[in-house]
Amino acid sequence: MSEDLQIAKGSKEEQYLNLLPQIKGLLHGEDDLVANLANICAALKEQFGFFWVGFYLIKNEELVLGPFQGPVACTRIKKGRGVCGAAWERSEILVVPDVEKFPGHIACSSISKSEIVLPIRKNNEVVGVLDVDSELLNHFDQTDAEYLEKIIELIQWP
Ligand code: SME
Repeated sequence: MSEDLQIAKGSKEEQYLNLLPQIKGLLHGEDDLVANLANICAALKEQFGFFWVGFYLIKNEELVLGPFQGPVACTRIKKGRGVCGAAWERSEILVVPDVEKFPGHIACSSISKSEIVLPIRKNNEVVGVLDVDSELLNHFDQTDAEYLEKIIELIQWP
């Protein structure tokens, strides 16, 4: 397998459509969770240049920072806290166009302006979240939600 990512230009949807099979290829035949989460972050960062993209994994009833790309971030988030904790508690995708308007938003960086968080489920239980931050307001929409969900569906959770 080639480890070079082919970067696409074009619409957001075209970029996701180009990226999805490549992520599938990166994960194929590899069952190490950290390795796979790390490569997903790198691929998303490389294609889209997101300010921050990473995973938080539930450990002892807390979200704990996992593989990510971007500036250093807070390591632990409690259930219901911030956008990540809310996405976990509600078990739903949260698209936040302006983080300053989200009650309880945890500002790991003042540069981050909008955010999308997707819960990751195994056997109907949330086991972690994917968090993507942008330095632009209103960056994320249904297209991101749809394709990021397809990406996290590729993860084999141990
Ligand atoms: N903003 C998130 C915290 C994680 S960082 O953005 C990396 C939140 O409110 O949950």
